[in-house]
Order: sequence, then C-alpha cells, then structure tokens
Amino acid sequence: MPITKNITFSYQEYEGPEELETEDRELVNAAKESAGMAYAPYSGFMVGAAIRLESGRIVHGSNVENAAFPSGICAERTAIAWAVSNFPHDKPVAIAITATTAEGLPAESVSPCGNCRQVIAEEESRTGKQIRIILAGKSGIHIIDGIGLLLPLQFSGKSLRADHP
Ligand code: THU
Repeated sequence: MPITKNITFSYQEYEGPEELETEDRELVNAAKESAGMAYAPYSGFMVGAAIRLESGRIVHGSNVENAAFPSGICAERTAIAWAVSNFPHDKPVAIAITATTAEGLPAESVSPCGNCRQVIAEEESRTGKQIRIILAGKSGIHIIDGIGLLLPLQFSGKSLRADHP
C-alpha cells in the first residue's frame, strides 16, 4: 500500500512595507530600485531582486532580456551570480523580489520562476545558510523562510550520488 505524505507550507503575509522590520523594508526598496534598472524591452515586465549578505551588504540584480529570448536572465539569478562572483564568502541571508510594468506594481507578489528557485536552492546548499525570501506586490508582501518551502523534494548535488537515500 502506498503511504500518502503531506507537505504543509506556512508563510507570513504583510499588508505593506510599513509593517516590515527596517532591514526588510530597506531590502524591498532596493529591489524596487533594481526593477527600475531592468532591461526588459520584450516583456515590459521589469523585475528587481536585492540580496542582503551576512555582512549587511546589499547586492542588486534585474532581469536582462535578449532578442534571442532564452538568452535573457531573470533578476534573481543576476543578483545571485553577482553576489557569488564578487563576495563568495559573504553568505546571502535574504532576497527581496518585486516587479514593475507600465501599469505599476503587479497586484500579486512576484514569485521566483522554477529556474530561479533551483538556483536559490543551490546557493543555500553552497553556503549552508537558509535564505529568507521576501516577495513584494501591490496587494501585500509575503515572507517565506527558505527555498525548501517553494521547492520541496528538490534536486541537489546529493541527488547525483548513487548512494543518496
Ligand atoms: N523574470 C524574472 O526576472 N524573475 C522571475 O522569477 C520571473 C520572470 C523575468 C524574465 C523575463 O525577462 C520577464 O520576467 C518575463 O518573464
């Protein structure tokens, strides 16, 4: 008989940035600033990500599109690549993500795509540190404690070993 297993998922919802702690509000503002610097002429969907490193340093990233669509990169991966290549020993502790369009902030908070979830997961396992994920939209802010909640049953370096349980 198969066993049914359940995964539950809890996260925090805030009505707006004024409810956040100062550091998180600062990170959301940095993500908004990054969204304004996106290069998104094809989708018009400008995404901004801001990562807080353990030292307190904030690293920005935005989506950079390309006429050859798959060559474009998301904001989250731009920010992570920048953080890892410039500050490899300063571990990310939080990432704020937001977007803007011609109509302003999307109603729903912007959630990272599957590729970005996988890359955030790799970063957590590289550093051994959980990353708080702060998703900011018009209708509220969602805070998720670690990528495991957004990417359960994940594929990781461990999965590559034959003796992995
Ligand atoms: N995008 C991101 O930057 N992050 C995500 O997590 C979702 C999508 C970008 C990719 C593309 O430039 C545009 O948003 C529309 O998909």
